[in-house]
Amino acid sequence: MTILDGKATAAALKKEIAQAVQHIKDNGGKTPHLAAILVGNDGASETYVNSKERDCREVGMNSTVIRMSAAISADELLQKVDEINRNDDIDGLIVQLPLPRHINEQQIIEAIAPAKDVDGFHPLNVGRMVTGLPSYVSATPDGIVELLAHYNIETAGKHCVVIGRSNIVGKPIANLLALKATPGDCTVTLCHSRTRDLKSLCLQADIIIAALGKPEFLTADMVREGAVVIDVGITRIPTGTENKFRLVGDVKFDEVSLKCRYITPVPGGVGPMTRVSLLKNTLKAAKKEIFG
Ligand code: GUN
Repeated sequence: MTILDGKATAAALKKEIAQAVQHIKDNGGKTPHLAAILVGNDGASETYVNSKERDCREVGMNSTVIRMSAAISADELLQKVDEINRNDDIDGLIVQLPLPRHINEQQIIEAIAPAKDVDGFHPLNVGRMVTGLPSYVSATPDGIVELLAHYNIETAGKHCVVIGRSNIVGKPIANLLALKATPGDCTVTLCHSRTRDLKSLCLQADIIIAALGKPEFLTADMVREGAVVIDVGITRIPTGTENKFRLVGDVKFDEVSLKCRYITPVPGGVGPMTRVSLLKNTLKAAKKEIFG
């Protein structure tokens, strides 16, 4: 069994991105700049946005975090998005999700200029991704593909079972792995809460991507000997002491790792790869690689 070390892989990719940023600066170019809008004070979102800021700093990019009250109206948020869309100094914009319940997330996502949509959530980018056109691919699926590529894991002709059909992970990774590409060329089964006999489908899988957000859901009896297991889950479980918590994936690592050929740990697997993919997209945005 080999542990897919997302932390080390991401560190290597980050170095390459830092060099590319330096190259732009050395040639008199503008420093790539990522803006993040954070609405309200959800603890996990706060942590994610802080990490994104730190990542930008570490590769020499600029970042701006716009903090807005949970009580703002959708119109106020749309105005802010529009202002950033028109700000030539900002290359990429993310609006951290989830948003407060009174705001329609889809409306906000669709207001982001596709050329600045480094999250790859805008329907234009989603559609381009599905058809195999150049696009911003959302960070978690892109990170998974990068990790498979980094470890030269054969995907062509393999049966990949994706558990979870979210717009952020399940649907895009299912589509990416079905593309005629490397990694790709998989036969994909996209499973969800209404799937019948999930266990028997999982037992037919060469690759399982667990992205349903249920801690330790995937157990050893659901995994075939020699499978590749990618754990996207990351649930914060309070430890009972102060404000401390531990991070738990969707895979019961201790028992599943004994059966599979490759597995991602939590933390240190998909998470760091996700963060680096956002930097990759921001670099693409700065270089105007997708939309010219
Ligand atoms: N919330 C959880 N994951 C993400 C992400 O990748 N992007 C944004 N904008 N919000 C998130």
